[in-house]
Formats: sequence, C-alpha cells, structure tokens
Amino acid sequence: MCGIVGYIGPKPVVPVIIEGLRRLEYRGYDSAGIAVAGSPDGLQLRRAPGKLRNLEAVIAEHPIHGTFGIGHTRWATHGRPTEENAHPHRDCTGSLVVVHNGIVENYLALKQQLTAKGHTFVTETDTEIIAHLIEQELKEMEELLASTRGNSEPTRPALEEAVREAVKHLTGAFAIGVLSAHEPNKLVAARSGPPAVLGIGDGEYFLASDVPGILHHTRNIHFLADGELAVLTPEGVSLSDFSGRPLELKTQRIAWDPIQAEKAGYKHFMLKEINEQPRAIRDTTLGRISFDTGQVFLDNLDISADDLRRATQITIAACGTSWHAGLAGKFMIERLARLPVDVDYASEYRYRDPIPSPLDLGLLITQSGETADTLAAQAELISKGSKTLAICNVVGSAITRRANGTITTNAGPEIGVASTKAFTAQLTALFLLALHLAQVRNTITPEDSLRLATELGRLPSKLESMLLDPSNTIGMSEGVAAPTLTSAATSSSTPAWPGPERRRAPRLTLDEQCQHLARLFHAASNFLFLGRGIHYPIALEGALKLKEISYIHAEGYPAGEMKHGPNALIDESLPVVCIATKDPDDPASVLKYEKTLSNIQEVTARAGRVIAIATEGDDQIASLVEHTIHIPKAPELLLPILEVVPLQLVAYHIAVRRGCDVDQPRNLAKSVTVE
Ligand code: G6P
Repeated sequence: MCGIVGYIGPKPVVPVIIEGLRRLEYRGYDSAGIAVAGSPDGLQLRRAPGKLRNLEAVIAEHPIHGTFGIGHTRWATHGRPTEENAHPHRDCTGSLVVVHNGIVENYLALKQQLTAKGHTFVTETDTEIIAHLIEQELKEMEELLASTRGNSEPTRPALEEAVREAVKHLTGAFAIGVLSAHEPNKLVAARSGPPAVLGIGDGEYFLASDVPGILHHTRNIHFLADGELAVLTPEGVSLSDFSGRPLELKTQRIAWDPIQAEKAGYKHFMLKEINEQPRAIRDTTLGRISFDTGQVFLDNLDISADDLRRATQITIAACGTSWHAGLAGKFMIERLARLPVDVDYASEYRYRDPIPSPLDLGLLITQSGETADTLAAQAELISKGSKTLAICNVVGSAITRRANGTITTNAGPEIGVASTKAFTAQLTALFLLALHLAQVRNTITPEDSLRLATELGRLPSKLESMLLDPSNTIGMSEGVAAPTLTSAATSSSTPAWPGPERRRAPRLTLDEQCQHLARLFHAASNFLFLGRGIHYPIALEGALKLKEISYIHAEGYPAGEMKHGPNALIDESLPVVCIATKDPDDPASVLKYEKTLSNIQEVTARAGRVIAIATEGDDQIASLVEHTIHIPKAPELLLPILEVVPLQLVAYHIAVRRGCDVDQPRNLAKSVTVE
C-alpha cells in the first residue's frame, strides 16, 4: 500500500527520500511524488504517475533542493493514478503539503464544508481535504489570536496545533506527514490506523510508513501509535497525543539486517524469499521446542495454560495468504489438540455479527500486523470478550500490540508482494501452536510429541535439499501421453499443448523442473489446483500465487468437489495441479491420497493435463499423470510446508516468462491498511 518517507537532516534530502521510497516499493503503488522546502526556491513539488523512475526523470529535468521534505508512493483509492492525484497534496496557498496513507471516510462531507468556506479543490482525492482542513484550522487560529491580542502583529499558530485540530475532524484511517513553507525545518506526523514509524538518527530524523524505508539510515525506531502526533525538527522529535499531552518517545532497536531486505544477487525478491524458507522455518522453530522431549515453549503469552485448557473454540481471522495458513492451521489444531477451529476472512468476520464466547480464543494471522481488516476482526473479538493471540512477522506492529500474546514468525522482512517465506513460517508457527495446545490439553502422547518435534526439526534441511541441492533424490517424471486432441478441440481457439515427452526426465533441480513446467504451460489462460484435507488450503495458495503474479485465472478446489461442478471446465487446454502427497505411516493420510488418485483419474479421463505434486518414492502416480514433482516425505501435517514450494516456483517462473512485474504485481499492495 502507499509509502511515506520524510527527512530532516544534513544529507541531501531528495536522494534520501527517493531511496527510502524505493525500499518501500514492495508495498505496491501506482504514482509517486515529493515535496521539499528550505531552499531559496521555497516549497517545491514534483509528482509523476507510474513507477519511481518516472518521478526521478521529472526531478532530473527540473531539479529541486531543500533541507527537509516528504515523499509518497500512492496506491489509488479515491481518484485515478494520475500526476494530479499523486501526493503530496497542497492547500489553496500551495505553501502547505500533506502525504497520507489510509482513507478519509467523511471526505465528501468535509469537502462540502470546506468548499462553502471558500476552498478550491483540484483533485479527486480524499487526501487533499486534509491539506485544506489544516489550512482552515491555521486560518481560524490566526483570526482567534488576532482578536484576543487586539489588532497587533498577526501571529502564526504552530503547524502542529492546526494538524492536531484538523485530525479531530477526520473519520477513517490515516497516517499523515505535513510540512509548511512557513515553518522551516519542521515535519509533523500523525497516526490513526495505518502504520507509521519515526527514525531517530544522529542529528537527522525520519518519518516512514514502514521500517525498510529508513533502516539503512538508522535502526532506532519509534512505532507511532494510534492517536500520536510527532513534530520532527533538526533538534529532535517531540511526541504528544491528539489532545496535546506530551508523550515519551519509546525507541526500539531493530535487529533486522538491512541486507536482509536486499535482493542478494537474486533476480527478484520473490525468488530470494522462496530460497530463504529453510532459514525462516529454522528461525521460527528454534528456541521454541525441545528436540529432546518434544515440549513446545511459547513465551510472551498473557494467556494461561488454564485458559488454553478451558478454551471451547479457536476463531482464526486473516486475509489472503495468511487466511490460507489459517485454513491449514485448522487441520493442525483440530487433529492434534481436538479443539474446534473456525476460520474467517477477517473482512467478513466483524460484519457477520459473530457469537464468540469469552472462552473462545481469537487467533489473528498476519504477516504485516497492520492489515486493516484483521485489525477490525481483532477489535470485534476483543469487544466480545475473547482473548487474542497473533501470529505475526513484524514485532511491535498494531495487531501484536493489542494481542494477549504473539508467536513471531522470524521470516525476516518480506518484500515481494506475493507472500512466500512468511506463509511457510506461519504454517510452522501454527504447527507449534497446535502441538503446544495438544500438550497443555493432554491430547497427545509424549512419544508422538517427540516424533513430531523431530520431524519439524528436519524440515529446514529437507527444504534445503529441495531448493539447493541439484543431486537431491527428489525429481520429476513425465508420464502418460497427452490425450489425443479431438478435431473439435484442435479447431477451437484454445491452444493445443505440446505433448509430453514419454521418458523419465533427467535429474533436475526443483527450480529447473518448475522452469520446465513454466515453459510448457505459461500460455494457459486458466489453471486449476486441487487438494484434499490440509492440502486443499495449499491448493488455494498455489492458485493465489499464480493469479497474483502471472495474472492467469486460477482456482483452488477441494479435489472431492470436482464432480459437483468444476469437472465441466476440464478439457485438454486446462492444466490441473493436483497435490497428491501422503504420509505412508498415517492411515488417514493414505486414505485421502487414494481418494485423490481417483479424482486425478476423473480429470485425466476428461483430457485434463495433470501436474501432480507427490511424495518421494511414489511411482504409482507418475504412470497416471503427465508431470510429477516429487517432494521429500514428512508427516501429513507438515507436508504443506514442503509441497507449497514447487507451487511458488511454478508461479514465479510462469510470471517471469509472461514478462510480469513479479515483486510488485499490478493493483496489489503488500500491506493493506484500508478496509
Ligand atoms: C495483501 C498481500 C498478501 C497478504 C494479505 C494479508 O493482500 O498482498 O500477500 O497475504 O495482504 O496480509 P497480512 O499482512 O495480514 O498477512
């Protein structure tokens, strides 16, 4: 979603801001702008639709300089992504500018009021309202000061006072940065909803919508809380609430290595992050489980073991990929801890008038910890008396601050909009939680605890062997011939696929296998992903990855539901990815696998092109389908962490072949701070 970077300090302002915005590009945006002041030229504004390079081109043609400034990347909500609608936005005088993340819900009412007072608006945005509102407050304060002091010299009220008054009129969500040409070397920031952070450097101060925007300058960060207003000057930062009460700055030292947020030689962040999954899972596991006893230790939970024992249900609320993790978590928790789990889209939860009992536990899963819908679901749960627990990748984020406990996924910063390592880290955290609940609620034997802990501990090296080792024992096989095309099919407009090679493919790395599939299938218009049980959420995630980054229409379906509708879609133009993994030591898993095999046969019988994800050693499946990717063996509940990786890589390579912007897909944002 939108990015903000503001700077006051001795460095050249424009490069600091542009570089910061570049590091926030992953949030997704469609126009960009910058305002700087403090030079003899006064307040200067440059804006451009599209990518940051367009803004840089504008600046190169018309350079600007100053001693303080703010920049913004905009993800359009109100008004198209044009230059005019790009931030910063000005008041009537052009001497005051605002950047804003979020949505002003009452902007139309405010626009009418301000128009009636003589303000003229030049854009379609809600943000422009804020600039005029501050201008109006300054004007009224100035008039009041003049009238109370008689007709003496006009005194300008402080910018922060006007901002403080202005934000009281806003409903909705906002993180704003404001500067005025009349108040040299001052930036004012305020937050109610979307994230904002302050960076405290050595004689320099920063404002940003997210840590990576300023991490290369300082690691001392204050997370602006809702209702906080900050004034940044070369002398330092002063903090207060919206009623003017001074507050103490609480800086935290961010441990992330800025290098973690770089591409490290990979072509895209997404590819780098896929390859970081062994480390993400190791870091999420380490210190939380004893590999001697299988005991799970979850620190920082303000939820007692008694609360966990008494809980009658867990309600999971999340969005997007995190919701898929939640669906998989349901299988883990119900199977191990025998506790019913409901999984809701966070955007639906609060509007369906839910009936949680105070004994229920709310579980919010969120990579960013700032998703507006998930925050709203958490507020609903809390208001109905539930304790809430978060699984989150960002320490100190809004959802973690409101939760009674957090299991942090130590995936490190995730920059690609399409979530990969945060997802597998969420699955890992959910597995730990399920195991912990089972231990507290006495629904697992010590032997099973130890066995599962040991298997969890083996996952990172299995992932490493999949991702890194070209001589690994997993591989791809190519099986049955493509169905003979009927004359009707060949004459239709749907493309005919190249037939499969009827041979065992040479030993390839997983990445090479996925590249091969991408070569074969990148021109498809539709994809279907199938799975059963815990593999169904992974099918959904595979479909989401593909549609997010390649713009191919893809659907995930429970394999058993095919005969109730989707079978009608199957023809020789439809690639169908079937997750057909199994744990041979688990009868329930084997039974599901056998059912999935029947579903696969239903697809191949109708000329569907099946790509199977199967467990190493399963040769049976290879004879049934066109392409098989094998993954290492693991217990049923841990297989998702392995089987999603080929789906991520296939989506990635297809998107690359189609020339898509992998890390910043169109119309999407990394952190969605509006409802
Ligand atoms: C956006 C991102 C997705 C993410 C979803 C939920 O749509 O593009 O990758 O899954 O938000 O975000 P969260 O931060 O709450 O996990």
